[in-house]
Amino acid sequence: MIFGYTGGYNMFAINPFSKLSEFVPSSVMQAYIIVMIILVVVGILLDIIHKKNVRYFFDNAKKAKKSATNQVSVGKKTSIVIKTVASDILTTSELAGRRRIAHLLGMYGTITFWVTSVIMIFCYSANESVTPSILPLLWHLGAITICLGGYWFWFFLRVDVSTEGNPWYRIIKADLFVLSLVVTATFGLIWSYLQAANISGWDTLFLVMFMLSNLVLFGGVYWSKFAHMFYKPGAAIQKNLSEADGSRDNLPLPSNKPKEFGLGIKREAPRHY
Ligand code: HEM
Repeated sequence: MIFGYTGGYNMFAINPFSKLSEFVPSSVMQAYIIVMIILVVVGILLDIIHKKNVRYFFDNAKKAKKSATNQVSVGKKTSIVIKTVASDILTTSELAGRRRIAHLLGMYGTITFWVTSVIMIFCYSANESVTPSILPLLWHLGAITICLGGYWFWFFLRVDVSTEGNPWYRIIKADLFVLSLVVTATFGLIWSYLQAANISGWDTLFLVMFMLSNLVLFGGVYWSKFAHMFYKPGAAIQKNLSEADGSRDNLPLPSNKPKEFGLGIKREAPRHY
């Protein structure tokens, strides 16, 4: 009985990979992680070759440099990079309001989930090893946080739904990343719960679903928005550096005229973009 959870097990305290090692050797789990990392690297390289985006990025940066109006010292550049990491990247300052909070939940949830998965699988997945209790706790909290941020984004904040009025169940290729991410976290949690409660059979089913959804997440990098987590930081650094040297990526300065949009602008919050 799935919800008759009386075994006294607390899944938050159990390293699910250590329990799994009764049936699956640690080396197989470790090989699985290495395959996932290779899939990400290959996906990103194919994406770079196909879109030629990195080449464009560097050509554009070189071109913009020619219109620089002031010299930026190495010290100033370092401080811009540090500020960009602390603000644009670590707090996703490009986004605002609920969108930003949902993104931060998803981002930090994912980082926590991945880092603790790697530590638990590489250091504590042998059956006899004792896992520090903070690791499974963070793993489960990471997965829950991904679900909070991801489902919030998926059901309410996604542009197609929140501003274009499409139903939440309309799925397009651009949804591959967020969907495979939340589904992976969801299956991981259900698998861990079933395994901790010793509900055999069902736990294997959800383990298989967990593995398949990870395969879609990491194998789909070429088609999904996965790579934005690597491109966005680079773009933010370039944008801030080009603002400091006056080249502004060859974009014009913001107007210093007063804003005149007419009274119509006050009728509705601007969210049709
Ligand atoms: C582990 C790292 C990260 C994860 C898991 C993550 C996750 C996500 C997800 C699930 C989405 C929604 C994708 C969609 O439109 O369907 C998204 C969008 C976005 N991400 Fe990230 N992200 C990460 C890192 C970053 C970083 C480092 C930045 C910026 C420096 C960034 C900026 C953005 C922006 C601007 C959007 C568009 C948001 C919107 O349309 O509301 N992300 N991210």
